[in-house]
Amino acid sequence: MRSSIVAPVAARYPDGMTDLSAFIAGLPKAELHVHIEGTFEPELMYALAQRNDVAFAYESVEALRAAYKFGNLQDFLDLYYQGMGVLLTGQDFYDLAMAYFRRAAAQNVRHAEIMFDPQGHTERGVPFQTMIDGLWRAKADAEAQFGMTISMILSFLRHLDEASALRTLEEAQPWRDRFIGVGLDSSEKGHPPSKFKNVFARAHDLGLKAVAHAGEEGPPEYVWEALNLLRVHRIDHGNRALEDAALVKRLAAEKIPLTVCPLSNLRLCVVDDMRQHPLRRMLQAGLVATVNSDDPAYFGGYVNENYTAVQQALDLTRDEILALAENGFRAAFIDEAAKQRHVAALRAYAIYESMS
Ligand code: ADE
Ligand code: ZN
Repeated sequence: MRSSIVAPVAARYPDGMTDLSAFIAGLPKAELHVHIEGTFEPELMYALAQRNDVAFAYESVEALRAAYKFGNLQDFLDLYYQGMGVLLTGQDFYDLAMAYFRRAAAQNVRHAEIMFDPQGHTERGVPFQTMIDGLWRAKADAEAQFGMTISMILSFLRHLDEASALRTLEEAQPWRDRFIGVGLDSSEKGHPPSKFKNVFARAHDLGLKAVAHAGEEGPPEYVWEALNLLRVHRIDHGNRALEDAALVKRLAAEKIPLTVCPLSNLRLCVVDDMRQHPLRRMLQAGLVATVNSDDPAYFGGYVNENYTAVQQALDLTRDEILALAENGFRAAFIDEAAKQRHVAALRAYAIYESMS
């Protein structure tokens, strides 16, 4: 008699929805959209403010956390830039990044591509070298201690001008081997990708990968520009691409991944309710959607909490969760052999889990 395969461990809620949080927790994952400055937990921020003798703008850690109520992206960015102002020394950047890597590893993130915002630091007098050395040391230690792989993406602040981005890219040249690509973040509305076409052209000449935030608050036109003018390999967010059928067709045909961030979308009012999140519609449209945390210290959760929140709100199935995790590895800037290894581990986990 054929032995039957036991159904996956999945708790049922009274209303029939399924809780896959334990399955998600153990799943090997990639994280492709996380701003290292957005992983700055209030407790560490407070400790570094004290260590550096910098005034902490809130009377307590709780008071700071209580201020994390955002009506839109700009509300958040105002606090985000204020928070990173506490980072001064190489050790600060090391501690920040190491704290994220430790949490990510504990959540079974096997590969992480972290964005960093050099202009957020150099503009206030922190040398590029201080920042990059601290991050680089943390990357090396985390790879050795946690057995994960890590890459870095240098992001340009789009509220600044292109000349500043070009200067930043040139300033970064002595450390060219320490980052795999460039990105574009900060205030989207009013700062279209077209503003940065020269600096992205230069990045392509240097052999760098390219990503850009687009369609988070900005219109589908910004996603078109990111594809056509910046020639990006991935779109960060991309929610509003769904408003344009021709754009969806292009993203699907070219398999351009979207790095989607559910809790960020909820906290920044990109969606009013998680039950309206477009993630399932993205998958159904054939898009290479992935799940990521964006700024986990500000938005209430790291990668597992993002998967779980959207799984529960949309009642995503185990197969949809597996597809999202597989997309994460396929969309990563790693070689084909590494992709195969990660995907094999993911499938082995799914089989093992279904039998236990
Ligand atoms: N910088 C950090 N988080 C961001 C986000 N969600 N959108 C744009 N810029 C950011
Ligand atoms: Zn982001």
